[in-house]
Amino acid sequence: MSKEENQTNPSPERIIQDLWVGRGVQALVAAVELNLFTNIANGKGTAREISRASKASERGVKRLLDALVGFGYLIKKGDKYKLSAISEKFLVRGRESYMGEFVYETKLTWENWSRLTDVVKSGRPVDAVDTEERGRDFFPRLVAAIFPMSFGAARAAFAALPKKANNKIKGILDVAAGSGAWSIAFAEAIPDARVTVVDYPEVTPITRRFAERFGVGDKYHYIEGNLREVDFGRNRYDLVILGHIIHSEGEVWGRKLIKKSYRALKDGGLLLIAEIIPNDNRTGPLIPLVFGLNMLLHTEQGDVFTMSQYRKWLKEAGFKKFNTIKAPTPSPLILATK
Ligand SMILES: C[S@@+](CC[C@H](N)C(=O)[O-])C[C@H]1O[C@@H](n2cnc3c(N)ncnc32)[C@H](O)[C@@H]1O
Repeated sequence: MSKEENQTNPSPERIIQDLWVGRGVQALVAAVELNLFTNIANGKGTAREISRASKASERGVKRLLDALVGFGYLIKKGDKYKLSAISEKFLVRGRESYMGEFVYETKLTWENWSRLTDVVKSGRPVDAVDTEERGRDFFPRLVAAIFPMSFGAARAAFAALPKKANNKIKGILDVAAGSGAWSIAFAEAIPDARVTVVDYPEVTPITRRFAERFGVGDKYHYIEGNLREVDFGRNRYDLVILGHIIHSEGEVWGRKLIKKSYRALKDGGLLLIAEIIPNDNRTGPLIPLVFGLNMLLHTEQGDVFTMSQYRKWLKEAGFKKFNTIKAPTPSPLILATK
């Protein structure tokens, strides 16, 4: 329902629907964990066949399959279930565009979300992942799950850059690299790319695993430590990537990070920022606004920031040009030129 409809014709249905749909996301989590989509892709059609392949009760699987039909993830004909286009493309394990791992992000933070009322009251997070102690425990459990959110967008970003710009990229600094989702897309497309990763020592084994999986492990090397302390160097890189890190760092450390990235870039070098960005009035879109609550729950200083804020911070750091790139991400990517 649009906001306008809400104003002229309010209905309690909307509230009931939101509260139930919120719970319904667990159907997607369970379906991925039980490999339902993959088993259907492998030819299982009835609830009995699917439940056997998934090693789950037929009663349970029946209800779950029907809920997934309600969500549009499955199509039901008679007593047989088929994949809808979105499940066919993104939820069958082993396919290149597989997004299923992303459900583990929901699982990781689900219980914390049930404590939102207390967190809003106190203004204090459930888990402050922007502190080194908690970050080193939390992020190794998160980064593989969010790989699918970033990797497709990273490939799209590379494709969207003018060829002239791409030809110049060789030295890449991937700050807070996590799985390496952003830099791997560049490393696989640029034969002589050299990627430097900055991340915690608990996370770099995961970056290594992903880089090797994509056949670019030999292009990577690692600086393990706290990005607030690590020296990024001067005039060294053609591309610096800040992928989903400023929101958890918050304004003070985020602005410092942009300045450090500027110093680390060669003249004409590019800074790529992937973020979740609300409009300037903070009235939409919905996902960035909800993500702001995620930062309240999980950080001491994190938040979502607007394009105007990013534009201002990039300018104050010295960046000359500011562009955005459309990509399959919650918000456009930011590309700034030194
Ligand atoms: C939300 S993940 C983003 C990972 C990846 N860039 C992406 O977009 O998929 C944040 C990453 O920043 C790293 N990180 C957060 N705070 C850090 C710090 N103070 N020092 C080093 N790494 C940090 C985490 O370990 C994690 O890999």
